[in-house]
Amino acid sequence: MRMEMAVVMVALAVGASALAAENRFVGSTACADCHESQYASYKANAKKAHSSRSVRIMASDLTEAELKECFGCHTTGYGKPGGFVSFEKTPELADAGCEVCHGPGGAHVDAGGDPSLIKGRGKIRVEDCSGCHNEERVKAFGFKSTLYSGGH
Ligand code: HEC
Ligand code: HEC
Ligand code: HEC
Ligand code: HEC
Repeated sequence: MRMEMAVVMVALAVGASALAAENRFVGSTACADCHESQYASYKANAKKAHSSRSVRIMASDLTEAELKECFGCHTTGYGKPGGFVSFEKTPELADAGCEVCHGPGGAHVDAGGDPSLIKGRGKIRVEDCSGCHNEERVKAFGFKSTLYSGGH
């Protein structure tokens, strides 16, 4: 009996540490203190900074299933580990934030900003946009400078 308990407890501990080791989404405000200019520019210019509003406005006309479809593009990390769940449970991920382009930022933040733990310069491609933007629009992103558009 005691042995079984021990086995269960070890299994639980391993499960918990595996979860902690997995990168997670933290939301754009967690980036603000260290990346003031990118954050300010994103808040002021990017439609992504209020993309949840576009969904909320239409929510009363949508079924639950239709609403969930919107989340994949209008929020951060929906359907991915540590990503958006609902407006109530994960308000910090309600908009399409920094991490839709840069990937989950939890490990980068925990390490005090280690640049090797975030997708940054030279690593963001047009393919990172095409999951949410249609083909015609993505073609217009062909120039490097326009990859920043919609961000900062
Ligand atoms: C998770 C989905 C998602 C990804 C990934 C994504 N976008 Fe967006 N983007 C959106 C949504 C949603 C909007 C519109 C928000 C609204 O108006 O409600 C938007 C808006 C925009 C706009 C409109 C103008 C503006 O300033 O907001 C541009 C340009 C844009 N994105 C560029 C990009 C580029 C370039 C990439 C890739 C490097 C990218 N986006 C990746 C979801 C995404
Ligand atoms: C495949 C990704 C995707 C899905 C799914 C999606 N959207 Fe969008 N939506 C976008 C993008 C990208 C834009 C911005 C288009 C642009 O500016 O080029 C946008 C723009 C909008 C806008 C216009 C905002 C403005 O300021 O003009 C509204 C409203 C909107 N979406 C609502 C919704 C709703 C409601 C749903 C779910 C029923 C939904 N979207 C599903 C990607 C998506
Ligand atoms: C504790 C401070 C801190 C926080 C919080 C932080 N960063 Fe950073 N970040 C840094 C530092 C320091 C660098 C390295 C210097 C540089 O490249 O600007 C960096 C670099 C970056 C880079 C460039 C990496 C490269 O190699 O090109 C990106 C992209 C980035 N951060 C995005 C984010 C995002 C997104 C968030 C929020 C999820 C975030 N950071 C939160 C401190 C931070
Ligand atoms: C639409 C996609 C997109 C979004 C959203 C976005 N970024 Fe970026 N970011 C980029 C691209 C593209 C680069 C340049 C990568 C390169 O040089 O190849 C970049 C570069 C950076 C860098 C490196 C320094 C620089 O300016 O080149 C930092 C730091 C950064 N982003 C932070 C942020 C933060 C913080 C947010 C949210 C407030 C954010 N980004 C939102 C696309 C985005």
